Amino acid sequence: MKHLLKLMDLTTEEITEILDIADQLKYEKKHGIEHHLLKGKTLGMIFEKSSTRTRVSFEVGMYDLGGSALFLSSRDLQIGRGEPVQDTARVLSRYLDGIMIRTFAQSEVEDLAKYGNIPIINGLTDYCHPCQVLADLMTIREHKGSLAGKKMCYIGDGNNMTNSLIVGGIKTGMKVSVACPKGYTPDAEIMKWAAENGEFVCTDNILEAAKDADVLFTDVWASMGQESEAEERKKIFAGYQINDDVIAVSKPDVMVQHCLPAHREEEITAKVFEAHADEIFDEAENRLHAQKAVLVKCLGGR
Ligand code: CP
Ligand code: NVA
Repeated sequence: MKHLLKLMDLTTEEITEILDIADQLKYEKKHGIEHHLLKGKTLGMIFEKSSTRTRVSFEVGMYDLGGSALFLSSRDLQIGRGEPVQDTARVLSRYLDGIMIRTFAQSEVEDLAKYGNIPIINGLTDYCHPCQVLADLMTIREHKGSLAGKKMCYIGDGNNMTNSLIVGGIKTGMKVSVACPKGYTPDAEIMKWAAENGEFVCTDNILEAAKDADVLFTDVWASMGQESEAEERKKIFAGYQINDDVIAVSKPDVMVQHCLPAHREEEITAKVFEAHADEIFDEAENRLHAQKAVLVKCLGGR
């Protein structure tokens, strides 16, 4: 595996291998076992959007693996002043061993991979968030013991998270249900692929989607770049919240996941968030271990 551009590019075996490596690296870190698999390697991290978890998990991850990481804000790079991505990719390929990029257009990530000759890792685009969903799958497996046959339900905006959750869930044999308002459903091609390759439902009825769910997901109603729509979206998504009614129709031992940042009383009530905080912060912690596994797979190592 050279790049991580989107989960659709990975086989089920590759996803499972990343989760296995992540579990192993987590175990080793907890037991003080050093694993300098990327000694001497440098990761460039280009951010065109804000980040807490992605930035810190990749930076600490590279440090744990014996390498180093450079934070590159697009505001300070020439790319922010219009230098073509083709040129940026070829220049950075001469200095770095890999690039993690968070940006708007998926095509920018794909172009970096096309024109550069070092591994490119997608740290979130408007289209998908593969790194987050690998951490999510790791967390579900940790809590539930396995993924195949378990039911994942996502409630809210059909956004980058939803697209990656559908692909990651279906590829690992989970049943996936999504509840979104009309006009805010996930990517049409991904939904078609999901229906052809597994058990997939998309509805506007949140209780139907959540029925007997093993794990519930949600995400913000307005993603980065949609700030101007936030007030209008609050009205459109008002009925798409993880609350006690949703928990009541799910399995009694349902777990709740949120990629964070969370907006309490919007997509999730404060009560449900706090009742499931341990699972949600395990998920946030697992960003570190899962990102290290991705780095090891893409930049070489185990
Ligand atoms: N979940 C996630 O990607 O968080 P950040 O935006 O803080 O990186
Ligand atoms: N859908 C959110 C995810 C943030 C991690 C966004 O794109 O802002």
